[in-house]
Amino acid sequence: MANFVDIDKLALQLNLSPQEKAKLIPPDETTQLLSDDYTGLVMDENRVKLYHDDFLTSQHIQENSIDLLVTSPPYNVGIEYNTHDDTHEYAQYLKFSRDWLQKAFDVMRDDGRMCLNIPLDKNKGGQQSVGADLTILAKEIGWQYHSTIIWNEGNISRRTAWGSWMSASAPYVIAPVELILVLYKKHWKKTKRKTPENDITRDEFMAWTNGVWTFNGESKKRIGHPAPFPRELPRRCVKLFSFVGDTVLDPFAGSGTTLLESWNNNRHSIGFDVSIEYCELAEKRLRTLWQSPKLI
Ligand SMILES: C[S@@+](CC[C@H](N)C(=O)[O-])C[C@H]1O[C@@H](n2cnc3c(N)ncnc32)[C@H](O)[C@@H]1O
Repeated sequence: MANFVDIDKLALQLNLSPQEKAKLIPPDETTQLLSDDYTGLVMDENRVKLYHDDFLTSQHIQENSIDLLVTSPPYNVGIEYNTHDDTHEYAQYLKFSRDWLQKAFDVMRDDGRMCLNIPLDKNKGGQQSVGADLTILAKEIGWQYHSTIIWNEGNISRRTAWGSWMSASAPYVIAPVELILVLYKKHWKKTKRKTPENDITRDEFMAWTNGVWTFNGESKKRIGHPAPFPRELPRRCVKLFSFVGDTVLDPFAGSGTTLLESWNNNRHSIGFDVSIEYCELAEKRLRTLWQSPKLI
């Protein structure tokens, strides 16, 4: 059993609304500092801020303000997003990746961490070592490497071709996994926490510190977004790598999954997306979570 003041239990006992429960978490100076600028602001409620904005050029976020970043950026594999073009030349994709990784680095606190969900590699339109390339890019910017989690995506087949069938001539090898790179800005050890609550249980800690995570991917159709990750992914990252009351950023929020799990686990969160439709979808999912949690 974890030893903590259980905010969820307290909220249940006192029959608190989502708004009242949000008030149990101390405010974060990050969100307060940003509250004067409303351009592109889609929502700012219950410790969640969501902006319809391009993360790379956004002015909404203070330097040295984020405790944890959890995201899945565009993979450049030809997904049909309604705003972002996912079909760039690989060199151009690496430039985009460098630019956002630099911006993300600047907004992190010194003990800030990043969980970056990316493909291991890419096989459509030429093989590329995406995981290795983005790790090197991040390290060049100044990110420190901590570890890599392998997400064994049970229900996904990445196979698109065999290459040469039953022949050594040119076979294709494809691993049905994705990566979650774990990086940090300057110091791995977190010494300050905003509340005394520690919300990870013994069983969760033991299971999740084993770096092979096995759970299914999310259905695009069910969520209404072309590339959502399952709630289990940000849930584990948020509980394993941040404290209650910390601020979590998702620069590519999509359907808002990171924001959902940050709220659900009593963290502050900030999300960005270039598509207004995806922002509206994220807002709708959050409101459903607050009103009828069983429906989501
Ligand atoms: C892989 S999806 C993220 C999905 C999300 N994890 C979820 O669970 O729904 C990437 C998202 O990045 C958004 N995007 C692309 N370029 C962006 C940019 N420059 N700034 C903000 N969002 C961007 C796309 O619209 C898309 O929704």
